[in-house]
Amino acid sequence: METLQHLLLLLHLLGWAIVFGGTLVTLRDTRLPKGALHGILTALVTGILMVGLASASDELRDPNNVKVAVKLVVALVVTGLVVYGTRRPEKVTRGLLGAVLGLTVVNVAIAVLWR
Ligand code: HEM
Repeated sequence: METLQHLLLLLHLLGWAIVFGGTLVTLRDTRLPKGALHGILTALVTGILMVGLASASDELRDPNNVKVAVKLVVALVVTGLVVYGTRRPEKVTRGLLGAVLGLTVVNVAIAVLWR
């Protein structure tokens, strides 16, 4: 069970790293990177699966539901921005890309600093 949780965490970290790294690279071109949608959906789905697994298992520590709820809201906003930017590439601005980057950093900070 713990191994599965660690594998999900690995995919979770790769998911948002794709969004962050890719968006940083395409910031100057004012466009979203190709893998952004896959990346944020990977982070979202693996995050939800980890919460489900930890809640259902006796071995794993129960998740902090308030922290997870805040992360979920932030991740849903990022997902909304990425879906919008993917569907309407002509509407992508530096502001939208900055919001994607900033909110991803906010979620990393919440994940690491909220104990
Ligand atoms: C942009 C979106 C997200 C980012 C940048 C992000 C970032 C991170 C980071 C850096 C960690 C490692 C922290 C550690 O293990 O100390 C982590 C772990 C975790 N994340 Fe996320 N996350 C995001 C979205 C989500 C969502 C939507 C959920 C669930 C609804 C979620 C649930 C979890 C869980 C359960 C862990 C395992 C470690 C723990 O209990 O804190 N994450 N996340």
